[in-house]
Amino acid sequence: MGGPFDLTGRTAIVTGANTGLGQAIAVALAKAGAGIVAVGRSRMDETRELIAPTGRPFHEITADLGSIAPIAGLVEEAQAAAAGDGSRLDILVNNAGIIRRGDAIDFTEADWDAVMDVNLKSTFFLTQAVAKRMLADGRGGKVINIASLLSFQGGIRIPSYTASKSGLAGLTRLLACEWAAKGINVNAIAPGYFVTNNTQALREDAERNAAILGRIPAGHWGKPEELGGAAVFLASDAAAYIHGVVLPVDGGWLAR
Ligand SMILES: NC(=O)c1ccc[n+]([C@@H]2O[C@H](COP(=O)([O-])OP(=O)(O)OC[C@H]3O[C@@H](n4cnc5c(N)ncnc54)[C@H](OP(=O)(O)O)[C@@H]3O)[C@@H](O)[C@H]2O)c1
Repeated sequence: MGGPFDLTGRTAIVTGANTGLGQAIAVALAKAGAGIVAVGRSRMDETRELIAPTGRPFHEITADLGSIAPIAGLVEEAQAAAAGDGSRLDILVNNAGIIRRGDAIDFTEADWDAVMDVNLKSTFFLTQAVAKRMLADGRGGKVINIASLLSFQGGIRIPSYTASKSGLAGLTRLLACEWAAKGINVNAIAPGYFVTNNTQALREDAERNAAILGRIPAGHWGKPEELGGAAVFLASDAAAYIHGVVLPVDGGWLAR
C-alpha cells in the first residue's frame, strides 16, 4: 500500500469486533495493513473469515468487558500476540458498547450501571492498560474511541447511553491532553445512524425509522463499511497532529 495511511506492520486491538461497526473497523484496518487482535465475548469466526483474504495476522481474545477484571490478562495476551507477529500494540479501538432503552423517569440502576460499565469504565481502564505498553517503549500509539451523536446531543429514552457517550467525548479530550506530548493520539469517531444490532429496535419502529431517515442529509442509514475510512485515517501517520477530536461520520446529521 505505502503512503501516509499505510498500517503495515502495526497491530490493532479492536473490541467488539465480532459484528457491526467493530467488525467493519477491523476489516478496514486489516486492509490497510494492520494485524488485528479482536477482543470480545462472542466468537469472531465471521470477522476472521473476512480478514483472511488480507493475509494479515488475526488473533481472538475472549473477554467480557462488563467488568474490568479481564483487562490485565487480555492486554498481556494481546501484547504477546503482537510480539509473535514481530509487532507491538500500536492501535486501540474502543468499540464495544451497549445501549438500554427506557424513559428516564423509570430508568433502573441496573440499566444505568450495565451501560456505564461497558461504555465508559472498561473503556477507560483498557485504554490505561494499553497506554502503559505504548509508553513503555517510547513509540506512542493511537487510541480511537467509538463515541456517538449522543456525545453531542441529548436523545430520548437512553439516559445511561447518552451519559456514557458524552462522558467518552470528555475522556477523549482529557486523555489527548495528557498524552499528546508523549506520542499517543487519542481521538474518537461519532457514528451517525448505522445498520447494526444497536439500532435494530429503531429500524423496526416504522415511525422512528422514517423520522430518522428523513433527517439524514445523505438519505440512507450508514453501512458499517462506511465507517472504516475514518478509523484507518485516525490510526495512521496522516493523523499524527490530530488530538482530542470527536469526528462525526453521520451522513450529515449534525450539519442539519
Ligand atoms: N449502530 C449505530 O448506529 C451506532 C451509532 C453510534 C455509536 N455506535 C457505537 O458503536 C459501537 C459498536 O456498536 P454497533 O452499532 O456495532 O452495535 P452491536 O452490533 O450491538 O455491537 C456491539 C459490540 O460490542 C460488544 N459488546 C457488548 N457488550 C460487551 C461486553 N460486555 N464485553 C465485550 N464486548 C461487548 C458486542 O458483543 P456481542 O455481539 O457479544 O454482544 C458487539 O461486538 C458501540 O460502542 C455503539 O455504541 C453505534
